[in-house]
Amino acid sequence: MTTHKILVGDSRNLAAIPASSVQLIVTSPPYPMVEMWDNSFGRQDLSIKAALEANDGITAYHKMHFVLNKIWAECDRILSENGFICINIGDATRTINGNFQLYPNHTQVILFFQSKGYSVLPDIHWRKQSNSPNKFMGSGMYPAGAYVTYEHEYILVFRKGGKRLFSGESKKKRQKSAYFWEERNIWFSDLWDIKGTSQSITVPNTGRDRNASYPFEIPYRLVNMYSSEGDTVLDPFAGLGTTCLACMASNRNSIGVEIDPTIADLALKNIHVTPDALNGIIRSRLAKHVAFIDSLPAEKKEKCYQNTAHDFKVKTKQETAIKIDPIKSVLSAGNTVTCIYE
Ligand SMILES: C[S@@+](CC[C@H](N)C(=O)[O-])C[C@H]1O[C@@H](n2cnc3c(N)ncnc32)[C@H](O)[C@@H]1O
Repeated sequence: MTTHKILVGDSRNLAAIPASSVQLIVTSPPYPMVEMWDNSFGRQDLSIKAALEANDGITAYHKMHFVLNKIWAECDRILSENGFICINIGDATRTINGNFQLYPNHTQVILFFQSKGYSVLPDIHWRKQSNSPNKFMGSGMYPAGAYVTYEHEYILVFRKGGKRLFSGESKKKRQKSAYFWEERNIWFSDLWDIKGTSQSITVPNTGRDRNASYPFEIPYRLVNMYSSEGDTVLDPFAGLGTTCLACMASNRNSIGVEIDPTIADLALKNIHVTPDALNGIIRSRLAKHVAFIDSLPAEKKEKCYQNTAHDFKVKTKQETAIKIDPIKSVLSAGNTVTCIYE
């Protein structure tokens, strides 16, 4: 059984969540200096609104990161020793007062966690390619006045302290939570080519006409890469609860915190899915694995191992204990959704 809570609140103060109580944080904050988030930051610190009105982009940028740093400090308190934090963030490009420049958000986040003593681990470039011919900016075909177009965002990965150790029951859960060899080869590469999610939702009273959600595949991979069955995952910028959904499909507990009550309400509805919706994800993951094994030449197939829980072969011994539990029921009460597994 796992539980998934959506809390309405400002993640600058997460007093309701005890210290060292989560093993993984997976999140995507509002991106400083991206216009759709100006109002959200402006509401959280009035001097940000003033800096933007005064066309002082650099001051606004630093003040926006000051807001995020308070949330990162709360994450640091809540994350257990040896836990991971994965942050999806994009840099911003913006013209203020006729001056076009890059606001490198990912560097500010790295500097924060480095200053807290975290190990900065190799990051992932999430490539969201656009085929639009109008994507290039500046002086067109004339030299010295055109700008490179960004089509990637970052997934930053930090670890608190040293390697996590597993023994006894936790070792068994870790073996059960292993991922497939062919998944490892894709998930642990530094370039993820994943289409952005549909941005069609209109959220009343927020000034936002886009949901800003990341595709399910992003938190699903991260949850499976950096946590083990039964762990608790926090998303301090829950949005529509995509991280919680990924946890439901992966037998992890989750807590999502969202400042906007309207969006938190939508998140609760969003994660109250049918077991079949989650089982569809699991079925397609297993089917992909079976197709991979089927695609191997006979001599390689012969060297494969038998997985003990599922009726298929696996490439390595480390995958023999993988067991992906289907969901039997999803129950909702108040701000909590409970998943029961078969
Ligand atoms: C980029 S969106 C996250 C989207 C989410 N990953 C999803 O898939 O739906 C950032 C969210 O953080 C929320 N937010 C902004 N400031 C916050 C704060 N101080 N505390 C909690 N949530 C905040 C915004 O309202 C927004 O919904």
